Amino acid sequence: MEIIILSHLCTFLFSFAICKTYRQLVRKVEDVLSKPYGYLSSLWVASRASANVKMLKAVHVELLDRQVVEKYDTDTWQRQAYESFGTILCARDRTFPCIYGTKGYKANQLDFLFLESTNLSDMDVAKVAAKGIVEYHKGASTRGRNTSLVIMTPPPIVERSVDEYHKLFWSFLWRLRKLDPKPWPEHVPENTSDAHWCFNFDDTQAFIAVLTPAHQQRLSRYAPNMCMIYQPRYLFDVLFTSEKNRASATKTVRNLADKYDLIRHSPDISDYALTGSTESRQYFLLDENETAHCPYPSLEVE
Ligand SMILES: *[C@@H]1O[C@H](CO)[C@@H](O)[C@H](O)[C@H]1NC(C)=O
Ligand SMILES: *[C@@H]1O[C@H](CO)[C@@H](O)[C@H](O)[C@H]1NC(C)=O
Ligand SMILES: *[C@@H]1O[C@H](CO)[C@@H](O)[C@H](O)[C@H]1NC(C)=O
Ligand SMILES: *[C@@H]1O[C@H](CO)[C@@H](O)[C@H](O)[C@H]1NC(C)=O
Repeated sequence: MEIIILSHLCTFLFSFAICKTYRQLVRKVEDVLSKPYGYLSSLWVASRASANVKMLKAVHVELLDRQVVEKYDTDTWQRQAYESFGTILCARDRTFPCIYGTKGYKANQLDFLFLESTNLSDMDVAKVAAKGIVEYHKGASTRGRNTSLVIMTPPPIVERSVDEYHKLFWSFLWRLRKLDPKPWPEHVPENTSDAHWCFNFDDTQAFIAVLTPAHQQRLSRYAPNMCMIYQPRYLFDVLFTSEKNRASATKTVRNLADKYDLIRHSPDISDYALTGSTESRQYFLLDENETAHCPYPSLEVE
């Protein structure tokens, strides 16, 4: 009797399991049929990511800290770009709006990556930056709380306007996205106008501040060599633990920017994910009282 009950129970459990798998299968098939494009494109993005892992393995980069850069000859562009950067962060008469960046610089928590060309449209240049970011992520936890990766370009060969730098910067992020070794995370919208959008690379959310030689009024965004200060967003989460904390940090940045710059702070400087704001307008601030709109509705566009 017991054996019969047991065997019935087994049969029941077995068919239940099959049924469940079957239902899952049906759901999956329905899913694929309802949005075949979405499904195929996610497969494609995943295969591109794994191809990128292999490709980036072959790219060589060197991340340098302050002590190493300070050994460069004073007549190299790297050393000169680094010295100018230090002057911008530690100006005697003004406080650089990102006090964490200055603190990180003074405490040798910044990593520097020197690109070989100002041509950010070149895929090989983007590959070096991509590998640099991956390497930086590996070591960032040991670099202190105010760490950033400072990506610097050689002295400009041609003069570019702020708008040209803006376009160049976004096309560079678009290229980085193509080289990403990880798929775009599901919980971050791809729509660059969305309040919850932020740049992701190597499955890490990031903030980027761009400094260019063309900025003349927003001095906190000026540098003689275009440079990009890359910060993983999880660092902010450690620094700003409450809403109040974040709001006061935004206020501090705005006040310091008002003192540092020749024009008023950009209305786009805002805390992450506030309604009506988006990070895509904060990475590159224009040199006038105007919003810089990201030219890509999504970095996934071809
Ligand atoms: C980071 O910078 C802030 C602001 O200057 C400072 O208060 C803090 O001590 C720094 N943290 C570390 C770990 O250096
Ligand atoms: C920059 O790189 C792109 C892609 O390799 C190339 O087509 C373009 O001619 C380069 N521009 C300059 C100014 O070298
Ligand atoms: C992207 O987000 C913005 C802001 O939320 C919204 O107005 C726009 O319609 C969105 N675009 C798409 C294609 O969903
Ligand atoms: C900047 O532009 C905004 C919107 O166009 C305007 O409301 C504001 O008064 C301007 N600020 C300055 C300082 O020109």
